[in-house]
Amino acid sequence: MKQDGKQIALVTGASSGMGRCFVRKIAEKYPFLHEIWVIARREEALRELERELPETELKVLAYDLADRRSFSALSALLKQESPRIRLLVNGAGLGNNGLVENQTPDGICDTVDVNCRALMMVTRLCLPYLGRGSRIIQLASGSAFLPQPGFAVYAASKACVLSFSRALREELRHKKISVTAVCPGPVRTDFFRAGGISISPVKKLFLAEPERVVEKALEDAARGKAVSVYGISMKLVRLASGILPEGLLAWFSGKLF
Ligand SMILES: NC(=O)c1ccc[n+]([C@@H]2O[C@H](COP(=O)([O-])OP(=O)(O)OC[C@H]3O[C@@H](n4cnc5c(N)ncnc54)[C@H](OP(=O)(O)O)[C@@H]3O)[C@@H](O)[C@H]2O)c1
Repeated sequence: MKQDGKQIALVTGASSGMGRCFVRKIAEKYPFLHEIWVIARREEALRELERELPETELKVLAYDLADRRSFSALSALLKQESPRIRLLVNGAGLGNNGLVENQTPDGICDTVDVNCRALMMVTRLCLPYLGRGSRIIQLASGSAFLPQPGFAVYAASKACVLSFSRALREELRHKKISVTAVCPGPVRTDFFRAGGISISPVKKLFLAEPERVVEKALEDAARGKAVSVYGISMKLVRLASGILPEGLLAWFSGKLF
């Protein structure tokens, strides 16, 4: 890690939901940071956040993370500014529900491109600027624990995030950089509206508030935990996924959701 640069946090998906909550909480809990870099497509929403936090220096980066050119832009900026990234939060993500046969090619590509490719690429680009004590927080999902018929592409993309995060954690252990995968159940954000997803009655029962999930994720990251799971229901799902046969889990989650 370069030792001379300014200390920053970088948050993707900062224009709404949990990403925006992360920016608010980081501004509160890490006042020593010189800047928070915020990434999403909706520049106006990022500017609004900037106005909401006048004490915090935000660098607004209106990137479309489904577009490979955003990686070149981020890479060039990192080279130019050479910051010390204390905290990286990969929050950008999306999902569409419905049977795989009814998914559009664009819908599948966007989900995989943002949830998986962009998360890996942003992480990769940031690695040279992370150092001892830095933390990486990856927004996976409780969907990572079990295959979800009717939400298959999304659940598979989040299983990819969980696997990637666990492996990266081991790779970075000797550098004392922690990686925490955040695996919540349904959270009250724009996620469902953005994806045109109707929330099933079962999911509605377990809707969590984004502030609580984010608070726990930051605490778990500070403790160096590998996985952050908010709420008893998701803890049970995680437990069941470790015990029950995969075929049974897939059948049951199809029935339940
Ligand atoms: N809400 C839930 O129930 C839930 C549960 C488990 C996990 N998660 C995960 O948590 C993360 C945050 O989701 P959320 O619930 O906070 O949903 P959200 O409010 O819809 O936020 C999603 C964020 O991702 C950004 N994003 C989407 N596509 C993008 C693209 N092509 N380029 C750049 N940014 C993009 C959006 O910004 P722009 O639209 O401005 O680009 C937005 O800031 C996601 O990874 C999601 O999969 C959500």
